[in-house]
Amino acid sequence: MSNLAIAGGPKVRQTPFPARGLIGPEERAAALALFDQAIASGHAFGYGGPAEQQYDQDFAAYLGGGFADAVNSGTNAVYCALGALQLDALSEVIVPPITDPGGIMPVALLGLVPVVADADVRSYNTCAEQIAPLITERTRAIMVAHIAGDAVDLDPVLALARRHRLYVVEDCAQAHGTLYKGRLAGTFGDIAAFSTMFGKHHCTGGQGGIVFTRNEALHWQGRRFADRGKPFNLAAAGGNVVAGLNCNLNDLSAVIGSAQVKKLPGIIAGRVRVGNAIRAALADHPAVQVGWQVPDSQSSFWFLRLVFRPEAVRVDKATYCQALAAEGIPVNPSYRAIPAEFPWFRERKVFGNSGFPWTCSDYRGPREPQARIANAIQAVETHFNIAIQENYGEREIADIVTAVRKVAAAYAV
Ligand SMILES: Cc1ncc(COP(=O)(O)O)c(C=O)c1O
Repeated sequence: MSNLAIAGGPKVRQTPFPARGLIGPEERAAALALFDQAIASGHAFGYGGPAEQQYDQDFAAYLGGGFADAVNSGTNAVYCALGALQLDALSEVIVPPITDPGGIMPVALLGLVPVVADADVRSYNTCAEQIAPLITERTRAIMVAHIAGDAVDLDPVLALARRHRLYVVEDCAQAHGTLYKGRLAGTFGDIAAFSTMFGKHHCTGGQGGIVFTRNEALHWQGRRFADRGKPFNLAAAGGNVVAGLNCNLNDLSAVIGSAQVKKLPGIIAGRVRVGNAIRAALADHPAVQVGWQVPDSQSSFWFLRLVFRPEAVRVDKATYCQALAAEGIPVNPSYRAIPAEFPWFRERKVFGNSGFPWTCSDYRGPREPQARIANAIQAVETHFNIAIQENYGEREIADIVTAVRKVAAAYAV
């Protein structure tokens, strides 16, 4: 016990973990080339030009072919993916329980009703079993999110959607490079949304996002929606065809994105190496279990989930994690990203005090927001997360494993 860093003992990790180094000379060169071009030509760089087209193509190629449209945040990628579906107002969309608020708010802002499905308690993700009972005659789409880079069990969700003729939207904000049955996440549903803000697997600079689909019609609907309804790919439109915001990315971000997509396979390989090594080392640990994964899937480890087993230690999870942090380990004791717990959702604060869409007289569903989150709460209460990066080496992996074991041993029952 006295050996723990929290009690004054030596830290397992004496030096800070290495910075990620996501931005390098490649991104700098790409940005400078765009500036040089603008200066030489006298034309400012803009948006939707060759640079963005290239990034869209590069990302679509990474996903094995299809159509991509870069936008200016992951939240707007979700917004535009849903907007592409052109759903009638008051349609219900089944949404995941654990996600960033930006993964759900677009539903309500589109005048659609988010219905929160619970998690498979072994993970942070929802599953077909939780979604099925929530389907009504008002449901039009199911949105799943591959949280932490861990794949949702998609086949049963897709089968359910087919049976009820529902769209499936994959939120891949945290899941660039995630594999499910050997295929990349984002290629299963009708349309997918990715965040490319600076902390994600690959980025477009500070903020960004990208919408992907293999359905060309949905792609064009999404592009129009993402740019104020401009009549892209329509022969004889008399002007803007649908109401939408300006969610465009810009060419400067796009060239950074293209440089990043080249690095993405290496980034994913690195995270998989680190995540799998830690999981393997902790596979049989009595006090800390590795997070359950859907069979035949490979996480891209936006972070690493671990499960705390209170019966094997004398302290609670918060105390355990405090001691782990004191050993110098980047630990998040609780990923309480449950949007249905937040005031905006519970108090229906979407369009002023109107309570819309739930209170709309044309809506035939419950007036109060629906959210099943008991499993989600249990999942966040039993799990804790370790931040991992693709550039961690053997030393970093060993330090994480050593510290997890050291603290567990010190507090063992
Ligand atoms: C699952 C999920 N969806 C949506 C978003 C929103 O993305 P952004 O922060 O780029 O708007 C995030 C952000 O982390 C996310 O994790």
